[in-house]
Amino acid sequence: MKKLKVGIIGGGGKGSFFGKVHLRAILFDGTREVVAGALRSTPEGAMSAAEEWGIEGFPDYQSMIDAYTNGTLELDYVVIVTPNFAHYAPTKACLEAGLPVFCEKPMTLTIEEAEDLQRLVVEKDLPFVLGHTYTGHPMLMLAREFVMNGDIGEIRKVEAWYTQGWLASMVLAGGGDSVGAAWKFDPKRTGVSNCGGDIGTHALANAMFVTDLKPVEISARLNSFVIDTGLDDDFNSFVVMDNGATALINATQIAIGYKNDTGIKVYGTKGSLEWHQERAEKLVLKQGGADTIYWIGAGYDYLPESVNSYLRVPCGHNEDFFEAVANLHTTMERMVRKRKGEQHVADAYEHPGVDYGVMGLKFLKAAVDSSKENGKWTKI
Ligand SMILES: NC(=O)c1ccc[n+]([C@@H]2O[C@H](COP(=O)([O-])OP(=O)(O)OC[C@H]3O[C@@H](n4cnc5c(N)ncnc54)[C@H](O)[C@@H]3O)[C@@H](O)[C@H]2O)c1
Repeated sequence: MKKLKVGIIGGGGKGSFFGKVHLRAILFDGTREVVAGALRSTPEGAMSAAEEWGIEGFPDYQSMIDAYTNGTLELDYVVIVTPNFAHYAPTKACLEAGLPVFCEKPMTLTIEEAEDLQRLVVEKDLPFVLGHTYTGHPMLMLAREFVMNGDIGEIRKVEAWYTQGWLASMVLAGGGDSVGAAWKFDPKRTGVSNCGGDIGTHALANAMFVTDLKPVEISARLNSFVIDTGLDDDFNSFVVMDNGATALINATQIAIGYKNDTGIKVYGTKGSLEWHQERAEKLVLKQGGADTIYWIGAGYDYLPESVNSYLRVPCGHNEDFFEAVANLHTTMERMVRKRKGEQHVADAYEHPGVDYGVMGLKFLKAAVDSSKENGKWTKI
């Protein structure tokens, strides 16, 4: 089997975070390789970062796409891991050139940009994956399977959260730039919401993914405790889902001591489900008596093939954060290989794509509008 060739835009150089996570996740299965990149915002930075990674470097994303278009560079898909403001233009250019895209979240800065990408994905019929990492955890996929099978009945209520404390801790410790992400607090570069965009969209995506429901109306309260640029660092919302269920979608960066406490509780007419990212290998099903605990592990008979085929090692071994990102790349790989007409390719799981991206932007805009109006119920 020929390895898929992947290009990366953004993510290179010291201090940049998520590019290196993607680099590892792409290499995880030996079926994909990173061949080219426009890894930084300056031409010199981009070329030296590519040299560090041992890949073909391009001074900017357009040169990389041009090389693909004129046939001097072979690519099967491109990963966009730039800051939020630099998602739209390179993603659009890739799609226009006919390249499948794995784009980081939140997908764009505005709803208009998001809808434009959605239009292109549909028009060009291209594979598209959105970087909602946690949906790549097999036990969250299993939670979705239980809901889809009707094991907990009709969904009445969802709690999805993402609780961090790094921002308040950093300020408490006297500020500093230990996090090289000043762009996150700049409305022009991060979008209408900092905390909501950065991690609230993960909580929303987890809720949508597990329940297959969509948000329709929101009452939100966004606070700025430590950021002084007018953006939120604490995001609280009551949401009505499209079956009438209530969802609490909350995210914060001011909960001192909390790291990456994201998770979900889903309450249905026949039972409940509970999953925590910091203990990602375990899914709890509650149906009235003793809890049933499901552990990750290839071969356990409660895992349907759709989930089992994403596991790599026999039960009793860990599979966690990097594997979750790798699983999203597996989904992209399956879509790309099927599209090329390769035989015996397993079905891609329904991981978040461009529609989640559009919904994320609508959710953020409605939350900001609602909060400005003192929590007024606002259509999404
Ligand atoms: N899915 C997840 O779990 C997850 C986790 C962290 C970050 N993210 C997302 O990944 C993206 C990047 O976040 P980060 O924390 O790694 O940011 P970062 O600031 O650490 O790194 C951004 C990188 O992009 C480069 N860059 C900026 N503009 C560019 C351009 N025009 N062309 C090429 N390169 C450019 C920068 O030089 C830097 O290397 C954000 O959208 C963020 O929301 C997702």
